[in-house]
Formats: sequence, C-alpha cells, structure tokens
Amino acid sequence: MSRLDRCHDLDDMREAARRHLPRGLFEFVDRGAERDAALAENVAAFRRVKLMPRFMVDLSRRDMGTEIFGRRIALPLAIAPTGIAGLCWHQGELALARAAAAFGVPFTLAAASITSMETIAEKGGGRRWFQFYIWQEEDLAFAMVERARALGYEALFVTVDTALGRTREYNDRNGFTDPISLNARFLADMARHPRWLAGVMARYALTTGMPRHENYPPQYQHRITRGTASAPKNSVTMTWDHIGRLRRLWPGPLVVKGILSADDARRAVDQGADGVVVSNHGGRALDSAPATIDMLPAVVAAVGDRATVLLDSGVRHGSDIVKAVAMGAKAVLVGRATLYGIATAGEAGAAKVLSMLATQFEKNMGYIGCRTVAELGPHVLAPRGTGS
Ligand SMILES: Cc1cc2nc3c(=O)[nH]c(=O)nc-3n(C[C@H](O)[C@H](O)[C@H](O)COP(=O)(O)O)c2cc1C
Repeated sequence: MSRLDRCHDLDDMREAARRHLPRGLFEFVDRGAERDAALAENVAAFRRVKLMPRFMVDLSRRDMGTEIFGRRIALPLAIAPTGIAGLCWHQGELALARAAAAFGVPFTLAAASITSMETIAEKGGGRRWFQFYIWQEEDLAFAMVERARALGYEALFVTVDTALGRTREYNDRNGFTDPISLNARFLADMARHPRWLAGVMARYALTTGMPRHENYPPQYQHRITRGTASAPKNSVTMTWDHIGRLRRLWPGPLVVKGILSADDARRAVDQGADGVVVSNHGGRALDSAPATIDMLPAVVAAVGDRATVLLDSGVRHGSDIVKAVAMGAKAVLVGRATLYGIATAGEAGAAKVLSMLATQFEKNMGYIGCRTVAELGPHVLAPRGTGS
C-alpha cells in the first residue's frame, strides 16, 4: 500500500506530510502565529456553523461547478498562494498548478514561490492567478506584476494583511528561517528526513541548482540556503491609493486579499478592485483576528453586489465550502490542505486532496437537498447556536 493509499482524509494527509518534512518546515506550513489562536478559531468557527438536512429531493442530476470571473470552474474552490511550496516537493508549485488544471480549478502562484512564473506559465496548464506583496521597493514589486501580465496570468491578487511581518516563535525554536540558515538545529532536522533531502534538495542541486525565489529580481535571487541573504521587505507605507495604481496597471480581474471588515472591503472596491478575499492569512498574521467565516456575511452585505467575494482560512472539509458559499462567498481558497497533499506525494497528493474535498462537498450538498451551487443560500444553514 502506498503512502497515498493510506490517506483516507485530510488528517491522514497532514500526518503523512508531518512525517515527510523536516519539523521546521512542517511547522512553518502547519502552524499559525504567536499562540495559534486564529488558526484554531478559523477551524472552530466552521464547525459551529450547522447545515439543515433536506430529504426527498431528486438527486439524480447534480452539477457542482460554478463561474468565476466569467469562466466555469469545476468546484467553488481555487488553490491559494503559498510561498516556498517548492520546498515541500521538488517544483511543488508546478505540482499544485497541474493538479488544479486537471481538476478544473484555478491555481494562484505566490510571488514568493520557488518555481518561476515563466515555468508555471509554460508547463502548469489551466487557469493561473498571480499573487504579490507591495514591497518597500515598490517599483521592483510592480515590475513583477508587469511580467505576470506579459505571461498571461488571468487575475492579480495583492495581499495587504502582513505589512509588519509575522511573529512565529516556533520558527526560531526550530532554527527555521527563509532564507534557510544552515544552523546546527535545522541541519540535524534535515538529516532526520533523508527522503525529503534526497527527493527535494538533492534533486534541485542535481538539476537547476539550489532552490531560489525565482520570481524575485536578480539582486534578491540568492540560494535559499544562504541564510544571511537580504530579502525584499513588505511596504509599511501602502495605502488604498496603491490599489488605485494597480487598477490602472492591471487590465484583468484585480483582487485584494486579506480583508476582514465591511469597511475595508468597500474601500478596496471603491479603488477599482473586482474582488476581495476574506482572509486572515490562515491565522498566520494577527493572532487575535476573528475567524473569516464569522466576518463573511458583513463583507458580502457591503460589496457582494458589485464584487466577487472569496474566502479562505480554515477550509479543511467539503462541508466548509458549502457553508462559505451558502453565506455568499463565490468560492474558497485552500492553502494548507493542498500543501499537505504535495508534501506527501506531489501532484498526485494534491489531486487526492482536491478529490476528497470535492467528494465531501457533493455529499454534503446532497444531504441538504442542493443539486447545484446556485441553490445554496443562507436558508441551508441551521439557526445560529444549533448544536454548538
Ligand atoms: C506555508 C504558507 C505560505 C503562505 N504564503 C503566502 C504568500 O506568499 N502570499 C499570500 O498571500 N498568502 C500566503 N499564505 C496564506 C494563504 O494564501 C492562505 O491565505 C491561507 O493558507 C488560507 O488558510 P488555510 O491554510 O487554512 O487554507 C501562505 C500560507 C501558508 C500555509
């Protein structure tokens, strides 16, 4: 029985990823910020929402697809941008892009990825979105956006919720940094994971050389193992005017990622954004942030009639997708779920995660008597307080 055959649900996949990756890298992927409060709250809030079963509905014909930015997707889901996914698996971003393409859902490439946007454009297939941060050196960040436009990336996501960086003491404890510093602690950690060392790091070393942030401008393209190397810093001076500037630069769908309030959603859309992602960065930024599913209704009420509202942070099961769409999200993004998949088995692992989520989604839709995504709405939710 293969590693993948033993993964029957996302918890199994997470456990397989934990065994495969060095602890420092696994915790970087798996944990949140500070005391992991927002991380836990995201998941708990989804569980507090209950769905109302409805029976005696003819379920012989069902369609789980929907449209986003005018084009069809197979499931109301896209893969979220995650930096350094290429350390979980050799060219992990390509594995994610291909799994998404095969499944018929979009893939969002992070500027901070290992695999270059050119490689993804050439070999990834499917619908490609690009995410970036506004750096202190704004022109360098905007030059990346120009590259993404020239390569035909469909939508641009600008993430606004991490200007000050994150507080993640567990990374310090593990000796894990980005760029990676080869300290005794992390060296020992890597040595305890020979399969990862051979399958990821040695494979890079023997082919394209040690991994780098391949989208970054040349002055920041250091080997990822050069721990003391300089890295671009996120801007602390960005304001809503920057969204207006991006609007003038980017002809396609423009999405602001990291929105939690109705007011910020309105400002983003007033500056020309076509969409917002209700997100607390998977609980990786402000640890006292509220759960995104709790904030979704206010954002939908504020901008749902003139912008595409997406949601991420805490999606671990197909029923979470049902709940988010019922509350007005057009689709969800998943970050960790598909990272556990690639860390376990590359493209096949990500494909298995997508298929698990799709099966759960379809089953839950059936139980609440919905045959299409258009039938979802607040009426499928049990009254608040039910069962919790
Ligand atoms: C390892 C890791 C790296 C991430 N890197 C980025 C990034 O470069 N840019 C970004 O906008 N979000 C990044 N995120 C946040 C995700 O896009 C997304 O908001 C989050 O993972 C959603 O929560 P979930 O993991 O609970 O699905 C990252 C998340 C993880 C887990």
